[in-house]
Amino acid sequence: MVAAIFPAAGSSTRMGGGLNKNFLELAGEPVLLRTLKTFSLVARVKFLIVVVAAHEVATVEKILSAEKNLKPWLVTVGGSERQYSIANGLKLLPEDAEIILVHDAARPLISVQTIDEVIDAAEKFGGAIAAVPAKDTIKIVDAQGFVKFTPPRKDLVAVQTPQGFRREILLQAYEKAAAENFLGTDDASLVERLGAQIKIVDGGYCNIKITTPEDISVAETFLRRKK
Ligand code: CTP
Ligand code: MG
Repeated sequence: MVAAIFPAAGSSTRMGGGLNKNFLELAGEPVLLRTLKTFSLVARVKFLIVVVAAHEVATVEKILSAEKNLKPWLVTVGGSERQYSIANGLKLLPEDAEIILVHDAARPLISVQTIDEVIDAAEKFGGAIAAVPAKDTIKIVDAQGFVKFTPPRKDLVAVQTPQGFRREILLQAYEKAAAENFLGTDDASLVERLGAQIKIVDGGYCNIKITTPEDISVAETFLRRKK
């Protein structure tokens, strides 16, 4: 079976406003709830682990308890970095979870189809991540702000979530990162250090992460179009 971990314990600095952006309402529904409801529509996903700040655990448990259309869930406390939040979530994995998905709670526009495709590819290849071809030209720069070189755009993808892995691969990657004090910005970067294969799955340009205030309007526009 598949279990999914949802990091939601960040400080929403770029959003501002002092509130966890995962509680902001998108077309009348909190971002976090919308994300969890979509994952609950996926037959193979059997368990949800939500990671939030210590002072938000009770609030989140209350919100989730009031929602009937969710797969079984648990809420736990996060850490100072996204990676530490997920490491805490990993401690709650059910024993029979063979595939683990990690998905930013702040990506509420994720589709059932992308989740299914990431699960399929993770089963087949051991690891899979949602991504889209880079739209912009990306440059590697030095610390003084000068361009070093330009990797060909055709070789670049912008990485999203979900990121899915066979259980033993993800656990081993997190153990290695902790032992070596490696801090990555996504889960795949930890798995890459094992030399394991990771397949790219098209996540679609609508699978945005709610990061800055204008993302709420963008997400509401995408939602209206979906209906
Ligand atoms: N996250 C987390 N624990 C952290 C940091 C981030 O669980 N210590 C979660 C966020 O809540 C979010 C997801 O990881 O759902 C993606 O992170 P990001 O978009 O960077 O959210 P924040 O860190 O909250 O935002 P910012 O970087 O602007 O402060
Ligand atoms: Mg952050």
